[in-house]
Amino acid sequence: MNNKITSVVAGATKENFREEVLAGLSQSPRQLPYKFFYDELGAQLFQQICDLPEYYVTRTEIEILRLHGADMAKAIGPQIELIGLGTGAGTKTRILLEELHDPAVYVPIDISKEQLEKSSARFREMFPALQVLPVWVDYLEPFELPLPRRLSSRTVIYFPGSTIGNFEPETASEFLARLVDLAGDGGGLLIGVDLQKDRDVLERAYNDAAGVTAQFNKNLLVRANRELGADFDLNRWQHHAIYNSTEGRIEIYLISDNEQTVHIGAREFQFRAGEEILTEYSYKHTIAGFIDLARQAGFHFEQVWTDGARWFGVFYFTVAN
Ligand code: TRP
Repeated sequence: MNNKITSVVAGATKENFREEVLAGLSQSPRQLPYKFFYDELGAQLFQQICDLPEYYVTRTEIEILRLHGADMAKAIGPQIELIGLGTGAGTKTRILLEELHDPAVYVPIDISKEQLEKSSARFREMFPALQVLPVWVDYLEPFELPLPRRLSSRTVIYFPGSTIGNFEPETASEFLARLVDLAGDGGGLLIGVDLQKDRDVLERAYNDAAGVTAQFNKNLLVRANRELGADFDLNRWQHHAIYNSTEGRIEIYLISDNEQTVHIGAREFQFRAGEEILTEYSYKHTIAGFIDLARQAGFHFEQVWTDGARWFGVFYFTVAN
């Protein structure tokens, strides 16, 4: 059950950034931890990605919210406590909150401190009756919920942006099981999930013509240079995203264009020409497949809303009383 106290845990620190970068680069195949994309510049670049003509993900999810938000509010019910996971600038959450019937409490949880502070201030202004209790934390780590002053009917988690797609199926399933506990008896989960579609559409979305995604991907190296004293030469790394249809996922890499050596503090890493660092997976689910995944985690499927082309799904699940 929910263990609600008032403490707020610190978000991604320099220490765990160093640790995770060193661990990831020592693995085979090499990896960089994707959650560190979102420093201040990274969060801005991701906002730009969301506005790209090729990146249909955000636009489609927003369209579904606009079309079906009233329906979602009806399914969710009045006076809820809404927990927003990784809600960033809060564009989608705002649309949802406007549709919800007298929402009581909003707990945005995000790793980006700047976005959390800005969006909380804005929400307090826009929804004076709503109690806003931001939590700055990496939600992949255990955390505790703040204790709200206002009573609510139930806890509903909002997890937009198809971030669940960034988890491998086993991790996704474990994470969904944690969300069952977080929502608690009678609670709910409203979750945005990107769906399987044409390779061309998918690959274009992650290899935009303006190169913003490349810049976003390389920002991990920029951060490592600045925060860890690494010496990645940005000109010698290429952004690459490819759809693996067998696994149903976009794979995002940084590729070394030549043999090279990179230093991070006292550590030294050798890269071969063409060697890849995996920075992120973005799984694309089928509707039936995702319902199954959530069911195995302990959720009961209620409803799914999609766009006309069925590119994206917003699913509502509940936890039995
Ligand atoms: N959650 C987003 C997605 O999978 C993140 C994302 C979009 C991303 N474009 C990216 C991550 C490019 C790394 C590189 O769609």
